[in-house]
Amino acid sequence: MGNGGDGVTPTVLEEMARPTERVLSVQGGRRLHGEVGISGSKNASLPIFVATLLAEQGQTRLLGVPQISDVEVLCDIFRGLGAKVSWRGDVIDIDTTTLTNHNVEQELGQKLRASTYLFGALLARTGQAKVPYPGGDRIGSRPIDFHIAGLRAMGAEVYTEGGFLVGSGRLQEASIYLERPSVGATIHLMMAATLGRDTVTTIANCAMEPEVIDVARFLSAMGAKIYGAGTKTLKIMAVKRLHAATYEVIPDRLEAGTFLMAAGQTNGRIAVSGVIPEHLTAVIAKLRQMGVTVDIFGDAIEARNEGGMLRATDVMAEEYPGFPTDLQPCIAALLASARGDSLVTDLVWADRFQYVDELLRMGGQIKVAGSGVRIQGVPRLTAAEVCANDIRGGAALVLAALRAEGTTRIYGMHHLDRGYAGLIEKLVELGADIEEDVV
Ligand code: UD1
Repeated sequence: MGNGGDGVTPTVLEEMARPTERVLSVQGGRRLHGEVGISGSKNASLPIFVATLLAEQGQTRLLGVPQISDVEVLCDIFRGLGAKVSWRGDVIDIDTTTLTNHNVEQELGQKLRASTYLFGALLARTGQAKVPYPGGDRIGSRPIDFHIAGLRAMGAEVYTEGGFLVGSGRLQEASIYLERPSVGATIHLMMAATLGRDTVTTIANCAMEPEVIDVARFLSAMGAKIYGAGTKTLKIMAVKRLHAATYEVIPDRLEAGTFLMAAGQTNGRIAVSGVIPEHLTAVIAKLRQMGVTVDIFGDAIEARNEGGMLRATDVMAEEYPGFPTDLQPCIAALLASARGDSLVTDLVWADRFQYVDELLRMGGQIKVAGSGVRIQGVPRLTAAEVCANDIRGGAALVLAALRAEGTTRIYGMHHLDRGYAGLIEKLVELGADIEEDVV
């Protein structure tokens, strides 16, 4: 992983432009054991990074930022906007005082979903924004109509032109109701509402995810006045200006959940450290139902599977505090070789089942049915050549491969790089037999 284009390591763009591809070879059947430190949350880091645009003065220091390619892309976007960014380890210093531009380059912006946040942040800071329609994971249709409707309700003029979202206007106060508790729309509109003159914005039916609370806490550290983070209604009293701040991002509950599942999947014993166990309540409950022993020790969680084959269970992915949709593919990969039949439903992303065809190649008995999958657990999965289509679908394939008989080859590794910091290194450290080659 590069350090944001420091001239020594290649940037993600250089990496992606190469005609070669990294492929994983995972030898299944290894029992994983040990302790693993969890990185900062991707889904909190990205909007927090973007929110630094709102500070007109000073240098912000973010701690606990995961070393993933999405952050690298954001570094490049910020440099394009005239900001100063330096990234060392998990610390990023950002100075947006020198902003010279409100246009985000198409090639960069469309690489990640979180680029949407740039739109509201630039509008709030400069009164103008031009941002490419966002990219990100291919997990079905990903509309941004709530974002646009909310900004329009705040008085912005917003239209689409040549693949870009273009906006202008000084944001006014508004009372916004979200048709669904969208994480992105909640964060985006909250961020945009922080700057102004005596305006009070309310957002009803908002998302309550830990990442929303973390962004609200960061904005508050910058001087914003936000009430109700973590509840269904947010109230934001705009202030004239925000300042830089030093802030540590929350640990990644999705990375932690992935490792806890790896313990269950490999008859192993893994402790994830530096986490907030409360964020994983639904995941822990499901793992216990499946026969995994889970113990909590302060900011660490240990999962162990001494019973061999896991038990089937039904899972419904929904908004927090429900079971996270981002771990839906991973738990399906575990259930694919569990004892019995399971139904896994996703109420957030109704089409998030691109990984199913890959698991079929490995001998899984899975059928997509409406917004869910019916899984008939098989005694063993077998190695095959498979391809990751998105971050979490990729993680699901790695989990399946860790238990499968033989050596699974996994293509599409750049998806995993977008969201997991050092996943393969961490798994190897825990005893996994994984090799990487370039084809
Ligand atoms: C974020 C996460 C993603 C996670 C998702 C749900 C980031 C970068 N990504 O995505 O990993 O899976 O939350 O926890 O943080 N919707 C609309 N119109 C909109 C916005 C959303 O209809 O304008 C719908 C979506 O189609 C989806 C649901 O609302 O069915 C939830 O989406 P949302 O919470 O907004 O997800 P993201 O913020 O894109």
